[in-house]
Amino acid sequence: MKRILSGVQPSGHPHIGNYFGAIRQHIEMQKNYECFLFIADLHALTTVHDAKSMREQTYELAVAYLALGLNPKKTVFFKQSDLSEHTELCWIFDCIVKMPFLERAHAWKDAQEKGKKDPTVGLFNYPVLQAADILLYQPDLVPVGQDQKQHIEMTRDIAITFNTTFGETFLIPEPYIKEEVAVVLGTDGQKMSKSYKNTIEIFAEEPELKKQVMGIVTDSTPIEKPKDPSKCNVFNLYKLFATEKELKELEKKYIAGGFGYGDSKKLLLKTILEYFGEARKKYKELLPKKDYVYSVLEDGAKKAKLVASKTLSQAKKNIGYI
Ligand code: ADP
Ligand code: TRP
Repeated sequence: MKRILSGVQPSGHPHIGNYFGAIRQHIEMQKNYECFLFIADLHALTTVHDAKSMREQTYELAVAYLALGLNPKKTVFFKQSDLSEHTELCWIFDCIVKMPFLERAHAWKDAQEKGKKDPTVGLFNYPVLQAADILLYQPDLVPVGQDQKQHIEMTRDIAITFNTTFGETFLIPEPYIKEEVAVVLGTDGQKMSKSYKNTIEIFAEEPELKKQVMGIVTDSTPIEKPKDPSKCNVFNLYKLFATEKELKELEKKYIAGGFGYGDSKKLLLKTILEYFGEARKKYKELLPKKDYVYSVLEDGAKKAKLVASKTLSQAKKNIGYI
């Protein structure tokens, strides 16, 4: 059976971009793959600097995955900071990765271009830790959204450099990116991202969710005029949920005119609430079950450690430490 691995940062609330770009694939692939999935709380430390947010967001992300269908009997589900192997292998990679290679990373270049004051070493080193996360588990595929493609390519380069320097150690993984949902756009038409505050959150309370959907940016075409669905953020989001038939129906209404953006937003909100209805119910039920949720992560960490420590030992042997 082929193996997959992926991680999501607990840096905010999970949104529908995370879901269609990554989470849905993680859940679906449980059927046919051996799955490793973790909460990337070490990566989140590049932006989250208070204990309450770190603890709550980590917990809520764990509950979100369980509510969306992660089965802990099928997927090894854990928290990155529970394993020392990730940071240990990160240091090893630091000693073979060249600075100019990391300077090419999009996230770093972005920080430079936006004139981010005093970027941390952690932000610079982010892709190296991600390479360690991945390579420790020798996965065949890494299911992610388009924005992570470069990180997976860098991971492949780092694995090849290590293997040629110290001998065959790591499997070279492939990214797994679903074209049609590779980049889900947010309420302002940019890529949906926690850092742009343009998200529609899967588990937000109904009034908040309504605010997010009603806040989707649209043009000023008056109600009675025909509208171009392909240029509308609401229509593009509706596409993620609708069947061919439902989509055609909405398209007709746009083209006919007499149908306002407010109407399509109401339809989108209703559709989101229906689509995630089960999961939202389960989320509420699971939220107070702290013992259960933490036990899932602890159990996952034990299973993950067996695999990660074996790979790390092999790397250390090949380096000459043991
Ligand atoms: P964010 O950008 O909101 O901080 P993360 O970096 O935590 O999201 O991403 C978690 C996963 O969700 C990654 O695999 C990422 O590629 C995917 N993802 C995030 N935003 C989107 C999006 N707008 N469209 C598709 N996939 C996305
Ligand atoms: N950088 C990823 C993101 O922001 C999160 C991540 C950390 C990850 N380590 C990983 C994803 C390993 C896949 C594999 O979404």
